[in-house]
Amino acid sequence: MTPLVLAMPGNEAMAGQLALALGVELGMATVRRFPDGESYVRVESAVQGRPVVIVCTLDRPDDKLIPLLLLAAAARENGAADVGLVAPYLAYMRQDVRFHPGETVSAQHFATWLSRGFDWLATVDPHLHRIADLSQVYAIPTRRVHAASAVAAWLRAHVTRPVLVGPDEESGQWVADVAQRAEAPLVVLCKIRKGDRDVEVSVPDVDRWRDYTPVLVDDIVSTGRTMIETIGHLRRAGMAAPICIAIHAVFSGSAARELESAGAGRVVSCDTVVHPSNAISIAHDLASAVCELLQIPRT
Ligand code: R5P
Repeated sequence: MTPLVLAMPGNEAMAGQLALALGVELGMATVRRFPDGESYVRVESAVQGRPVVIVCTLDRPDDKLIPLLLLAAAARENGAADVGLVAPYLAYMRQDVRFHPGETVSAQHFATWLSRGFDWLATVDPHLHRIADLSQVYAIPTRRVHAASAVAAWLRAHVTRPVLVGPDEESGQWVADVAQRAEAPLVVLCKIRKGDRDVEVSVPDVDRWRDYTPVLVDDIVSTGRTMIETIGHLRRAGMAAPICIAIHAVFSGSAARELESAGAGRVVSCDTVVHPSNAISIAHDLASAVCELLQIPRT
């Protein structure tokens, strides 16, 4: 039976691109709130015997989780052969350890809830730091799409003489991959996070890169503090206004505006979270991951 793609609200564009790339039908589902704030879901397309692929990026996850799990349950109860999740951005991966007594490892709980609701998961560059692999927390098959080749292709087409800058050691893994693919030099800085919005970044020898276009790459831009702090250092050292690339444009509150005011030359992101800065499409890479999980040939 041919797979069916369903979009959670706000994910229509990605779901449409995915269905097109997979050569399968984009189905219909109703997801809305009752007046009391509870969720109502209904699968409108025929799912009997078919693999169902639900697309839901998971920034601002707390509002999305209940209707998402309900939609997966509705698909399953209406006869879907299996139900997979494409979450271009996977939430809660940063709370991967108990930092202080009394806390919990949210990453583990979130993974448990999704593993109970879905048969498999495809995502883009999840924040793997103290958790080395998704299989440590997810009990279902997973595929990680790497944005590096799409980001490197964008860089080659749009930026002359880039020097890739990773704002912290955690970003090293993504930035090194992008730098290698774009055949560009690389600098990884050192960050100390003192609070949610209090970040200090040390900048080593930037003199060497004065004639290059600095390109900051980070997996997640949330408050923007990491990038803003780094921009400040680079500008004070006399470097050009950097291009800021976010794999996941989470951008809480006024972060995008603050980033521009801080002196970002341009802010660019992958389309894993819908945002005006989206310029790099990940749909084709996600489609390949879905084909692997569904064991169907890539069209
Ligand atoms: C760190 O763990 C991540 O790789 C990002 O550097 C971080 O999430 C960025 O957060 P913010 O934009 O709030 O500084």
